Amino acid sequence: MTLQFSLGTTAPATVDTACVVVGVYEQGVLTSAAAQVDSACDGMIKRQVESGDISGKAGSSTLLFAPAGVAAKRVLVMGLGAQKSLDAARFQKVNIEAARALGRLPVTDAASYLTEVDVPGRDSAWRVRIAALASDHAAYRYTATFKPRDRSKQPELAALAFAAAADAQAGLDQAVAIAEGVRFARELANLPPNICNPAYIASQAQAFADTQDAVSCTVLDHVEMEQLGFGSLLAVARGSVNKPRLIALEYNGGNDGDKPYAFVGKGVTFDSGGISLKPGAGMEEMKFDMGGAAGVLGAFVAAVKMGLKLNLVCVVPSVENMPDGDSYRPSDVLTSLSGLTIEVLNTDAEGRLILCDALTWTAQKFQPQAMVDAATLTGACVIALGKHATGLMSKHDDLAAELLAAGEETLDRAWRLPLWDDYQAQLDSGFADVANIGGKSAGAITAGCFLSRFTDGQRWAHLDIAGTAWDDGRKGLATGRPVALLAQWLLDRAG
Ligand code: BES
Ligand code: MN
Ligand code: ZN
Repeated sequence: MTLQFSLGTTAPATVDTACVVVGVYEQGVLTSAAAQVDSACDGMIKRQVESGDISGKAGSSTLLFAPAGVAAKRVLVMGLGAQKSLDAARFQKVNIEAARALGRLPVTDAASYLTEVDVPGRDSAWRVRIAALASDHAAYRYTATFKPRDRSKQPELAALAFAAAADAQAGLDQAVAIAEGVRFARELANLPPNICNPAYIASQAQAFADTQDAVSCTVLDHVEMEQLGFGSLLAVARGSVNKPRLIALEYNGGNDGDKPYAFVGKGVTFDSGGISLKPGAGMEEMKFDMGGAAGVLGAFVAAVKMGLKLNLVCVVPSVENMPDGDSYRPSDVLTSLSGLTIEVLNTDAEGRLILCDALTWTAQKFQPQAMVDAATLTGACVIALGKHATGLMSKHDDLAAELLAAGEETLDRAWRLPLWDDYQAQLDSGFADVANIGGKSAGAITAGCFLSRFTDGQRWAHLDIAGTAWDDGRKGLATGRPVALLAQWLLDRAG
């Protein structure tokens, strides 16, 4: 069941709902909505501020139950932190915490007035969009591989109204479409690799295409790829009984003949490292190595659901990287689809080996006006930027600026790393046109440099989402990044 969103302008003290959500800043400064509720219930909020029960600390929450004079049965008071430093990121955090708090209450509907809080430089439509995306993110539950449980006794939040005028409706509609894309990506990425293999990803792409008139899906199997010359991708795939697929979704939302935008997403459904086997600890996280595929498919879903007036293709090379008697090996020389030969120095640098063929194919087949790939490509990117920023690499300053701006707008942020030619020499090989690894230093950049060899003449950017695609830890879930960034970028392009 997905959360339904709506907009409303009813006053907080009189709105008919199971729970009203209002904000209080540090030092006991009440927002307008909090002040209205406070005067309706004879100063209950102010008394709790004075007693110290309500601190206003960012993300904190306090529940008032059945306050007299207020129509709602509950009031959830959210701390907003200091008023003068409230920024976009904190606004998002408070909305996530509010949705989490609502999720723990036995309520099925709520009305949030956090969308009235002033965020410098942002309008009401933006606040509604971020609030809806944050709430949907917090409401997501992964249940696919648990024993079915009787959930009927636990009421779940089903409807959330935001305080905003009708001019924010477009922002809300966009958020609902993007949230659907984010859920699509998270669900696909969270599935275990014994279910989510290359054929499964292809079936999910096909299933989505079947529901949409403007979308078509093509899937190439290993025989077809062999005929076409996908020598690099097929080498990676050889070690697994789960055969590879090349998946292409096409959305015709623009004029016929308009060059499409293109996404390419790394779809390694499990990355054991292959013969260059990874250490055991943490290897389970490599089920998320199809996070780029999930991200571009989710962004594609969002674009279609928004009905954007543009043409878009989404290409997913999908393989499993496994050790086997037939696996490719370090020192093998591969001939890629582009004709460039590649010396394999590490079979764990497999992402770039499937992406290079997919990028070549996408450029040849679709002649896109811009091409953006997303990939959980390097541990080095996690070292450089941590879990907060996606690594962005491009030789095109305008395209890089567009993507960075889309990330800021949605708080799905990226940070640029250089793709200077100075780094290219690290990929020199004595036996082939290029080596598949570039040594110890600047690992995220040399991976980008490798891909750049296959995107000559293309307006292309690379997103390394190794740090941002999933949350750490035993219960870490897929984040759905960079769906919002990519969807926003397309939204900006569609005007
Ligand atoms: N999928 C991994 C990158 C990765 C590692 C993502 C950890 C998220 C967390 C990729 O295929 C890989 O193994 N890269 C190697 C490259 C190296 C062999 C040059 C890496 O980063 O160690
Ligand atoms: Mn690898
Ligand atoms: Zn990988």
